[in-house]
Amino acid sequence: MERIEQRQEESLDPQDWEAMRRLGHQMVDDMLEHLETVRERPIWQSPPEEMKAFFQQPPPQAGQDPQQVYEQFLDKILPYGMGNIHPRFWGWVIGTGTPMGVLAEMLAATMNPNAGGGDHAAFYVEQQVIDWFVELFGLPAGSSGLLVSGCSEANLVGIAVARNVGAGFDVRKEGLNGHQQMVLYASSESHSSNQKAAELLGLGSAALRKIAVNDQYQIDIDALERQIAQDREDGYLPFCVIGHAGTVNTGAFDDLERLADLCEREGLWFHVDGAFGSMVVLSPELKDMAKGIQRANSLAFDMHKWMYMPYDIACVLVSNREQHRHTFSLTPEYLAHQPRGVGGGATWFSDYGIQLSRGFRSLKAWISIQEHGIEKYGRLIRQNVEQAQYLASLVENHPSLELLAPVPSNIVCLRYYTHALDNETLNRVNEEILFRLHEEGIAVPSYTKLKGNYAIRVANTNQRSQREDFDLLVQEVVRMGNEIVQGEQ
Ligand SMILES: Cc1ncc(COP(=O)(O)O)c(C=O)c1O
Repeated sequence: MERIEQRQEESLDPQDWEAMRRLGHQMVDDMLEHLETVRERPIWQSPPEEMKAFFQQPPPQAGQDPQQVYEQFLDKILPYGMGNIHPRFWGWVIGTGTPMGVLAEMLAATMNPNAGGGDHAAFYVEQQVIDWFVELFGLPAGSSGLLVSGCSEANLVGIAVARNVGAGFDVRKEGLNGHQQMVLYASSESHSSNQKAAELLGLGSAALRKIAVNDQYQIDIDALERQIAQDREDGYLPFCVIGHAGTVNTGAFDDLERLADLCEREGLWFHVDGAFGSMVVLSPELKDMAKGIQRANSLAFDMHKWMYMPYDIACVLVSNREQHRHTFSLTPEYLAHQPRGVGGGATWFSDYGIQLSRGFRSLKAWISIQEHGIEKYGRLIRQNVEQAQYLASLVENHPSLELLAPVPSNIVCLRYYTHALDNETLNRVNEEILFRLHEEGIAVPSYTKLKGNYAIRVANTNQRSQREDFDLLVQEVVRMGNEIVQGEQ
């Protein structure tokens, strides 16, 4: 037999552990300082050309000193963040993160388990987090769940179970070809991820019937009933209704109780997209807004939005564990659950979703909830809603501002307004205001269109905002609006 030459063996661990430890300590100090002083910096700055060019270099063939790599991070990456850790970030629906969340990510990465399966701590932590939410939402004990990347994935998982249960045949084996067209329902305010789910599940976007909303932006349940009846008459197979706890545009809550009644009557799966709004259940004063949520067959929600946890983390709960497992479980020999050893464990999360390999997401949720307790989350959620109401009152009482939608929860849609301008010009002016708010590093709301009107949209899932931040926003929107209008005259 040929002799195998013994070469110097290597690993990716540092040669100088002491230097790595010092660097780690410096990173922790720098990052906590960065969070502590976040309010003092502009919220955002546009990445300069020199920075963009830096990220077009080929990969280095030889490694560099870790300290040097960290300095590149400090110089080229850290200053150009999205801004969502700042107290005046209210764009889209984006959370802030927390200092302990940062540290939790380090702990999770140190253990670095694959949470897809096996008998180790990550399973017990994830299961406890899921069980906590099953109880907080009032779903039946024993409901299953899965932590996922975001509510988009959570919606996909929930609607996948709904499709497989509602089909009445083995979709996994047969596919959808040649079968009655299945259809599902949500309001015209439904989040795009639900349409993506319909597309990815082979149903097609047309299968998602978008039902009109009332003037509170809630699904019109009478119109929904009429559409279901019409679809049955036309030979379609209705299988699911999606209710929203907090719509993305205006934070509206569908009447979940009535939707649950309707689903029960019609034999339809009730999926709730509660990306952020479902979190009102944590506040004793607000929880009635989501009444009926406990009757969901599946419920999707985020923790990186209104629980302020670091990206990314969301969850899907399913009231019938078997139906959930049946949609995703596939266990070839090499993944069979073992009676003993690391391959043991009764539940493998890979049987409940798309991912086989999965990170230790649950740790930051578990640590955050242990650190703050549910009551604190409830108080912060209420604080965000009260801040939104405060902003709405500032807007309503200002002659140069207009509120474009009701404010049932944490989202305020407003615009600069003067009766001297037509709608098209107002849209242009408000868009320009938004760009300047971002580019001058003052605040980051986002935008939407409501009934043809360009809205500056403030979605408050920010644990760092204070009332004075909303005062400043109003002051700056009016100042910029006046300047833009004067500049055009
Ligand atoms: C109502 C609603 N559903 C789903 C999503 C998608 O969530 P994610 O961005 O976590 O995938 C969002 C995101 O804003 C949302 O507002």
